[in-house]
Amino acid sequence: MNYSVIPEPREMQTGTKTLFTLTRLCNISSEAGCEKAEACLKKFLSDAFSLELLGTGKESVILRIDGTMQKSESYILTVKENEVQIIGSDEAGVFYGVQSLRQLLFQGNLELPEVYINDGPRFSYRGFMLDCGRYFFTKEAVFVFLEMMALHKLNTFHWHLSEDQGFRAQIMSKLLLTEIGSYRSHTNFNKRKHEGYYTVEDMKEIVEYAHRLCIKVIPEIDTPGHTVAMIAAYPELSCFDRDLTVATHWGVKHDVLCVGKESTFTFMQEVIDELLETFTDGAFHLGGDEVPVTRWRLCPHCQKRMKEEGLKNEGGLHTYYLDRMARYLKSKGTEPIMWNDSIKELMVSKDVTWQLWNDDMDKKDVVSEINSGRPFIMSNLRAYYLDLPYAQVSLKKTYEFEPVYEGIKKEKEHLVKGVEACLWTEFVPTMQKAGYCTYPRLGAFCETAWSPKEKKSYKSFLSKLPPYYSLLKGYGTDPASLSQANPGPVSKAGNLIWWERRKLCWAGLSNLIDNAYVKKTYGKK
Ligand code: ACM
Ligand code: ZN
Repeated sequence: MNYSVIPEPREMQTGTKTLFTLTRLCNISSEAGCEKAEACLKKFLSDAFSLELLGTGKESVILRIDGTMQKSESYILTVKENEVQIIGSDEAGVFYGVQSLRQLLFQGNLELPEVYINDGPRFSYRGFMLDCGRYFFTKEAVFVFLEMMALHKLNTFHWHLSEDQGFRAQIMSKLLLTEIGSYRSHTNFNKRKHEGYYTVEDMKEIVEYAHRLCIKVIPEIDTPGHTVAMIAAYPELSCFDRDLTVATHWGVKHDVLCVGKESTFTFMQEVIDELLETFTDGAFHLGGDEVPVTRWRLCPHCQKRMKEEGLKNEGGLHTYYLDRMARYLKSKGTEPIMWNDSIKELMVSKDVTWQLWNDDMDKKDVVSEINSGRPFIMSNLRAYYLDLPYAQVSLKKTYEFEPVYEGIKKEKEHLVKGVEACLWTEFVPTMQKAGYCTYPRLGAFCETAWSPKEKKSYKSFLSKLPPYYSLLKGYGTDPASLSQANPGPVSKAGNLIWWERRKLCWAGLSNLIDNAYVKKTYGKK
């Protein structure tokens, strides 16, 4: 049989004759620093094969670290007669060796031929984002996502915790954020109420779980836009102290944080201070996307701030807010990240990482921004938005997208820190739908995140799908079939009609009506 690994390793050779069979007698011998890898392997053997090792036989799995190996997160895996050896450059390297071993053991039903794998990642940032603002996913569901991330050798969980439709992170000094902000009376999708939030203890547990899988967690509290749920809890956060309810529908909302009032900054800094006690991985996502300036144009606080700070227009207020919050995070030793809406007139400082999601910035602008020193994470929605229908983002498209654009200078390529796949959830109310959207696209995505560019081949990826599907199903996920993931013209058309029909709502009209009301009530007489 042909053994294979997803993501494709840098170098891999396999023999044909079985040399190693993992039985109950197998012994795992691991050095200090390999505890996470060992625990992961034992859990896999127990979950997938009901195997609890006795360690009395002659076969062994040896896990160790060789600090002289060049690149971090790298490993060499060898299988010889009665012995599997994984040598990692560090803790994560050994852990990723075990991820490859899991796939091989699964394919061979615990029998392995001679194997040599020499492997390490292309990008240091390999992310997956889960939007828990639109739909709340239970703690256990988040654990499943983390397990699947590890299997795909992804190392950064970007946790989108706040949205117009729900604020999910308990903040002890501001309990209304979750007591009011985590409940919406109905949803876009099925007209039922929806609620849920993570307690501080839940979040700590999730962070610990992620750390056991060599995954860092970056929380996102999206501001100053996408904040209707926060405003519903604390109206004073908005211009005109508006009395709103948590948004029921998707769409870009016009009520955003008032960045004229000093109290907004104090509030947000306190939120960040509390979250940094739980999220200790040194990065925080400020959001910053999709911020209409309608209210700021009318708000006396915002207008006063603009004058005092000498800002030319309301776009400048957006920059002012994000730059100030970014400085605050830096002062706490935490890296700020924000979405790339912050381009055009919004020139926040160069040391702030931008996460690219839309085509507002054309490739030329992205290249010039990187060449002038800006770090980037690539999440182009045309390839990496997992919520988009396969009719728009097919498996092939995800696979073939190249995140390092032509024109980026060699010496600046490191500023493309990596890539991230995003699962937005307004149309993803269940784990079943999440599975359909995420897999097999995450398999395609992780080959860009991890494998050397020259080793990527869509044809060879397709040939690895049968064992990959078995593995996914073994983990209880519900992937899209290959024909769903690469739809033909008829199902593509059906797919798009479904999607457009779902997006249809009255949000645009109600925005217009509400804007007219605000203008009449608060505008200059
Ligand atoms: C985004 O999709 N609004 C970041
Ligand atoms: Zn204001």
